[in-house]
Amino acid sequence: MKNLLLLTLIVFSFFGLFAQEPQFANFSPTIFPDRVMLTISGNPATSRAVSWRTVLENKVSVGEIAPVNASPQQEQKKLVVNGTVAPWEEGSTSSMGHKVIFDNLKPNTKYAYRVGDGKNWSEWFQFETSSDKTEPFSFIYHGDVQNDIKSLGSRAIRQAYSHFPEADFMLFVGDLVSRSNEEYWREFFYAGSWIYGMMPSIATPGNHEYDKPENQPRTFSKHWKQIYTFPTNGPAEKFHQRTYYFDYQGVRFISVDSPAIGESSEDGAIIMNWLDQTLASNPTQWSVVFTHYPVYSCSQGRDNEKYRDAMKAILEKFGVDLVLQGHDHTYCRGQNLPNAGTNAKNNPVYVVSVSGPKMYGLNTSFWSDRVASNTQLYQHISFSGSVLNYQSFTVAGDLYDEFQIVKNKKGENRFIESKKIGQIKQRTEIPSGAREKYNEEELKKYQQKFQ
Ligand SMILES: [Fe+2]
Repeated sequence: MKNLLLLTLIVFSFFGLFAQEPQFANFSPTIFPDRVMLTISGNPATSRAVSWRTVLENKVSVGEIAPVNASPQQEQKKLVVNGTVAPWEEGSTSSMGHKVIFDNLKPNTKYAYRVGDGKNWSEWFQFETSSDKTEPFSFIYHGDVQNDIKSLGSRAIRQAYSHFPEADFMLFVGDLVSRSNEEYWREFFYAGSWIYGMMPSIATPGNHEYDKPENQPRTFSKHWKQIYTFPTNGPAEKFHQRTYYFDYQGVRFISVDSPAIGESSEDGAIIMNWLDQTLASNPTQWSVVFTHYPVYSCSQGRDNEKYRDAMKAILEKFGVDLVLQGHDHTYCRGQNLPNAGTNAKNNPVYVVSVSGPKMYGLNTSFWSDRVASNTQLYQHISFSGSVLNYQSFTVAGDLYDEFQIVKNKKGENRFIESKKIGQIKQRTEIPSGAREKYNEEELKKYQQKFQ
């Protein structure tokens, strides 16, 4: 008996010695849905799309939805909707990707939904459809999340949600992940977890959503359409869910797939032409264009004059109110006007922001009125009648930038920078690793400009 006890102890300590501390939660799929992602796929007043994953063997997709009931008996008035499946093929992990679209919903209504296979279910998630009229609302805007998403990108997503849980959706301007593979997406899902099932996500592709195998043409992320369902009103089928628009309570939001413009001049012309038409036919008072590549560059050595001229011409022609961008891993905001900060007329306000920890240095061909480097941020933007209110926060939850755009009856904009901003010191240190991008002369210019 004594010997048996000793043996048991030895066996357990042996396994104890070799057992690895988990660095990460278990990311293998199970029979139960996980990675639940809610998106706006069509009319935001009447529809929502949901994706999730399970083990590969699970080939049934069902969604149940009902107006929210504070009693736990959600099932009473539920609607059952069948979805679709497609295997998630990626390296060592194989799983089943599921999707369902909830249609014919009522505007301005809180719904509860769950997804599964009819037997194995997710928890009940809740969301609210938008109004079909012009009404005040707000949303969250995230720059590139991209790298170290579990370690440091997560705090931007979580802090933004905790700060503004009433926001109607969160909008990502590309480079959500540095590589579109299982390793990166598992971190992205870890970072947002159940938040993604509650607050809809909107996204435009960045260059990192494209794969570029060596000596081969660039291909678009095969995971994008498995995870997200965005409107299919782009210029042609191949642009669907990447270049699209939706109208949300008096604001037209337009996703422009800028890496596609950079890749092919033919596709670029098609997208630009579509953007022109989509702005020309805008029935709403406001317009927001969200796109990955900045029209005006913010970081050292990344200016693209040809792209800027082409985009600027269209955005200014229609007086787009706000252009939300990423790619440059810095923060900058401005209108490139000689008297910026006093009279914006109908020039768009351009913003570049960054949520994740990958950081570049600022450029010295300075066009913007507010900048930051080496700083993780998130933005909260609200619309109320003739007023757009914009706020940018560091991941510490501190206000970093703030302005308003006030529209008059003729549709002309007045730009008002918040008085608080002058009292908040600009964060302009060159991040470690970015210093080698500057030669001596540029470093001098940088110091003169920012220090
Ligand atoms: Fe990026």
